[in-house]
Amino acid sequence: MMNYATEPPPPSPAPEVPTVPAVHADDLTVVRGPRTVLHHLRFTVPRGRITGLLGPSGCGKSTLMRAIAGTQANVTGTLDVLGRPAGHPTLRSRVGYVTQAPSVYDDLTVRQNLHYFAAILDPGRAAAERRHQHVTQAIADVDLTRHADALAGNLSGGQRGRVSLAVALLGTPELLVLDEPTVGLDPVLRRDLWALFHDLAATRGTTLLVSSHVMDEAERCHRLLLMREGAVLADDTPEALRTRTGTDTVESAFLRLVDEAAASRTKENTR
Ligand SMILES: Nc1ncnc2c1ncn2[C@@H]1O[C@H](COP(=O)(O)OP(=O)(O)OP(=O)(O)O)[C@@H](O)[C@H]1O
Ligand SMILES: [Mg+2]
Repeated sequence: MMNYATEPPPPSPAPEVPTVPAVHADDLTVVRGPRTVLHHLRFTVPRGRITGLLGPSGCGKSTLMRAIAGTQANVTGTLDVLGRPAGHPTLRSRVGYVTQAPSVYDDLTVRQNLHYFAAILDPGRAAAERRHQHVTQAIADVDLTRHADALAGNLSGGQRGRVSLAVALLGTPELLVLDEPTVGLDPVLRRDLWALFHDLAATRGTTLLVSSHVMDEAERCHRLLLMREGAVLADDTPEALRTRTGTDTVESAFLRLVDEAAASRTKENTR
């Protein structure tokens, strides 16, 4: 045993508190083909919270998520993810991304799909037991334990989507980017998935960025990014949005903001 009578031990290092936001965008612009799809976006996504990305079809939600995941070409401006430029190789295991069209192998079972991706993330014989635990946990997280040995090709659309989500959960990512994960799900499954999202944020400190064009899902988020025509209309909590616009629902708040933006554009044009 050491004797600290004359020399006190150095203070133990403070636990590492992430100080940078999960996502920081400034002047973020994306061009797809002949069109500018995202226009000079500026926003931050805080850590450990669920941020909803909402807006009508075609407004640029998937494009923004692809940019954050590092799979989108022609991105200019600043886009930092967990303190690194989006797409940085060190982010590969720290960011989980589920695309709008689930990508799983139909000729493998749920468990085999998960094992395939687990082996890419955590290769080697020595990691076999750990992989087994991670796969079992991820399948349970998305409530597919009963279907673990079913071929993915024989699952329903919603179940296939949940296999993709389980794949994204495998590496215990710090940031989960989920593109419309609840589309096509029945109300019970939607409720259960939102419960899982809240559980991930509360117990694992995971940051979730979840897109939807169903405005009632907005009420389940800690924060919202409301988009329209490639621009961010609002970046706030659901409550602050309702209060600021004097409305009862996020949907009404969104419509009020759209009207206000249109009115200010008309005013500018007639000046
Ligand atoms: N490959 C492409 N080339 C040119 N324009 C594209 C391409 N892909 C998408 N776009 C355009 O970019 C815009 C944004 O598309 P994006 O898929 O990001 O929208 P979204 O908000 O995710 O829509 P949805 O809710 O329907 O999924 C759309 O107007 C679309 O037409
Ligand atoms: Mg989309």
